This record gives sequence, structure tokens and C-alpha cells, in this order.
Amino acid sequence: MISQKMEAAFNKQIKDEMYSSNLYLSMVAYFENLGLKGFANWMRVQVQEETAHAMGLFDYLISRDGKVQIDAIDKPPYEWSCPLECFEAVYKHEQLVTSLINGLVDVAEQEKDRAAISFLQWYIKEQVEEEANCSEICAKLRLIGDDRHALLLIDQELGARTFVAPVIE
Ligand code: FEO
Repeated sequence: MISQKMEAAFNKQIKDEMYSSNLYLSMVAYFENLGLKGFANWMRVQVQEETAHAMGLFDYLISRDGKVQIDAIDKPPYEWSCPLECFEAVYKHEQLVTSLINGLVDVAEQEKDRAAISFLQWYIKEQVEEEANCSEICAKLRLIGDDRHALLLIDQELGARTFVAPVIE
């Protein structure tokens, strides 16, 4: 069994992960329209990752006899001025998600829910990786500036990303 406060906090995080998924789906469309298929591929994998994050919380809440309540998701933005601005938005968003996960752990600690604290360690580690990935891409995009040839090389590199379903436990 899980406390009501913890249940509400998990439901909020499920919604926030699904918002992340929709935000990145919006970015898939942005990059597809620019003809940058590799960037779009990177974002498609990100969409799958965020859905997996939401489902990890979803399944965990059910395993604790909690009640999942699916909430409405806000409309994400759909336009950015350039790939760098888009990836800076990803980086900023992932920093926000890190603070949300930390807040969720705070609730688990207040509730003395040791099982939830243990479960959420995976998400804490995942956020380190999430932030590092987009920070690295931002740095590369800053380095290349207006070099279109270099942009296409990054596009090729991002096109190689594949989705590996995470084992969240
Ligand atoms: Fe679900 Fe990108 O963190």
C-alpha cells in the first residue's frame, strides 16, 4: 500500500513524463520539417524513453496498490529558431525534470516510504545521463555555429541512436 500523498506525487510525475514525451514528439516534427532526419531520429528515441519513464512509474504505482489517474497534458511548444535553441530547450527541460524527481524523492522521505526512495534511485541516475546527453549536443552545436556541413555530420551521428528499453526496477 502507498500513502495518498505519495500516490498523488507519482501521478503528477506520470503526467510530467508524458508531457516530456509530447514535447519531444513536437521536436520530432520540427526536425522532420527541417529535413534533419538524424535529429528527428534522436528525438523519436527520446519520445520512447519518456514513455518508458512514465510506464515505469505507472507500473510501480500499481504494484504498490496505488490508483493511477491519467491527467490532461499541457500543449508543448512547436517552434524553435534553430537546432541549438531547440536543444537548449531540451537541456532546460531535463534540468526541470531533475528537480521534479528530486521533489518526488523529498515526498518519499517525508512519508518515510523506503521502498519508493529505493525505486526512485534509478530515476535520479537516469537524470544525470539525460542532462549529460543534451548538454553534449548543445556544446557541439555551439562549436559548429553556422557550419552547415558540420550540422549534417551531427545529423548523421544522431541518426545512429537506437532505443533500448530501460529496465526500471
Ligand atoms: Fe524522463 Fe527525460 O526524463
